[in-house]
Amino acid sequence: MIDLSTNYMGLKLKNPIVASSSYLWEDSKNIKKAEKSGAAAVVLHSLFEEQLEIEQEELNKFLLQGTESYAEAITYFPEIKEFKFAPDEYVELIKEVKSNSEIPIIGSLNGVSDGGWIKYAKKIEDAGADALELNIYFIPTDISLNSEKIEENYSNLVKSVKQKIKIPLAVKLSPYFTSTPHFLKSIEKAGADAFVIFNRFYQPDIDTQNLEIKPNLVLSTSEELRLRLRWAAIMYGKVNPDIAITGGVHTGNDVIKTIMAGAKVSMMTSALIKNEIEHITKVLSEINEWLLMNDYKSIKSIHGLMSQEKVLEPSAYERANYMKTLGSYK
Ligand SMILES: Cc1cc2nc3c(=O)[nH]c(=O)nc-3n(C[C@H](O)[C@H](O)[C@H](O)COP(=O)(O)O)c2cc1C
Repeated sequence: MIDLSTNYMGLKLKNPIVASSSYLWEDSKNIKKAEKSGAAAVVLHSLFEEQLEIEQEELNKFLLQGTESYAEAITYFPEIKEFKFAPDEYVELIKEVKSNSEIPIIGSLNGVSDGGWIKYAKKIEDAGADALELNIYFIPTDISLNSEKIEENYSNLVKSVKQKIKIPLAVKLSPYFTSTPHFLKSIEKAGADAFVIFNRFYQPDIDTQNLEIKPNLVLSTSEELRLRLRWAAIMYGKVNPDIAITGGVHTGNDVIKTIMAGAKVSMMTSALIKNEIEHITKVLSEINEWLLMNDYKSIKSIHGLMSQEKVLEPSAYERANYMKTLGSYK
């Protein structure tokens, strides 16, 4: 019998597959389906700062620092109404799901400013969530805003949310920082118990006929995993928070890679939208089969196996690999 159990931010999980945040979990029946299919935990869809009791001044200060474009920017906000889940419904959903499921349920907040909206962290905790994921999705567009200030804003937000709760806090981030290791260390100091790497940045397209900006959500493929594998491998052993990989996990082999790189858990959304939630069962049997075939008794025994922990000069190693990769094409 292969032991797939793992521990993520202190939560005991029966295996490393976590169903990541998306609309799928707005329906509690889908959460039950994920549990039955073998998911070890579910991260609920996000409550967005813009949708919460907006402390408008805080949010505007953050989004519009140094710009005069308030009136124009605010016209984007009506679309927020499309997110139908009100905070009260969210709390009710957590209570309902917690009363009839055995797996940990992780709430999700999505925002950028250190404003009053973060009081919802406590409401999510009080509703019974086992942990909270804070997704900071921010695209800096203001020329006067430098990287130091942006990173400070992230840290302040993490610190403030952490102060509100006792349950573990995971922070979901983007890969675009000048020094990812230095930045992640500052988020660790701010109180993160886990890093969820990385947000996918949806890139809107231009409709040349109607002169419109079109939202363009393309589901991921396994190709996207590589960026995550690289950073998990580099960060393994250098930071205390657990690492979760999101973005490009579709198969059992993908999960094996994420754990070998240094992640504790592997998260899935696109694969579940494409193949139905029951796809988790197939992925779990692929993981079991791989471990069996390769003579490993537990998932823990491959944790960090392919990380860069033992590499003395990771930057030199990365350059050597870069040259090797270019050379290999011939
Ligand atoms: C339709 C859809 C809705 C999503 N909703 C959320 C959300 O509410 N909050 C969040 O943090 N991430 C959200 N995500 C991001 C996913 O949780 C995940 O991080 C991302 O899709 C990358 O993983 P994947 O390659 O397995 O899809 C959403 C993704 C999709 C495709």
